[in-house]
Amino acid sequence: MPVIAHFSDIHLGQVRPGPDGPDGGARAEARAARVMAYLEALPGRIDAVLVTGDIADHGAPEEYAAAARVLASGRWEVLTCPGNHDVREAYRAGLLGEEPSAGPVNRLHELPGLTVLAADSSIPGRDEGRIDEETLAWLDTTLSRARRDVPAVVAFHHPPVVLHAPYVDEIRLLDEQRLAAVLRCHPQVAAVLCGHAHTPAATAFAGLPLAVAPGVVSTVTLPFEGGEGIVFDHPPMLAFHILDEQRRLTTHHRIVLP
Ligand SMILES: [Fe+2]
Ligand SMILES: [Fe+2]
Repeated sequence: MPVIAHFSDIHLGQVRPGPDGPDGGARAEARAARVMAYLEALPGRIDAVLVTGDIADHGAPEEYAAAARVLASGRWEVLTCPGNHDVREAYRAGLLGEEPSAGPVNRLHELPGLTVLAADSSIPGRDEGRIDEETLAWLDTTLSRARRDVPAVVAFHHPPVVLHAPYVDEIRLLDEQRLAAVLRCHPQVAAVLCGHAHTPAATAFAGLPLAVAPGVVSTVTLPFEGGEGIVFDHPPMLAFHILDEQRRLTTHHRIVLP
């Protein structure tokens, strides 16, 4: 039964003004490092670690240098996809060690017993998302070639449904019907995994479970919770997804205390 550790929105480089002055991005990096340390201390095995975008806050090269440092600090390989705060050229160069280029960053990871498609839902320069033509074709082709007897999860940044969190619903994934049509053609897809919302949420899309990972750097609150909409004082969280023999997804959440 594959186990996926899933967290999101580490926003490295985000500077939060504090009582002692701006933190210079130290807070965001420290929170991401806490999550990595939690995973590193696990006595048991997990099969994949996934971070669903907003790796950097401004898409700056030094933010990806920090991401490469933090995300490579443990014994698990960390799979990523870009978010609206990421910049494709700098992401490729700094995080993947590739030539900078502006096309969507789509990656297939064929792990033992699990296929992960990490797709790019970002629209350069915009906060809302879309699975563009190139990525849609990549998903369809890649899923057509992938083994049918191995469950697959499709991961990208922007949730394709309303989460009743107005702050993020306005900048969710656009044109989601075309993505749903592609996913429905590939029965080995067991779940859709997203970030962007900065709140752990469970819902459904295209007849599949859709799990939204908590945001590490901050938490978005719901209208009936009051407040400003973004809380910086909640501790970071992560999700553990378990895919059983029936390809049923079960998700547990953990708070990561200092
Ligand atoms: Fe974010
Ligand atoms: Fe985002």
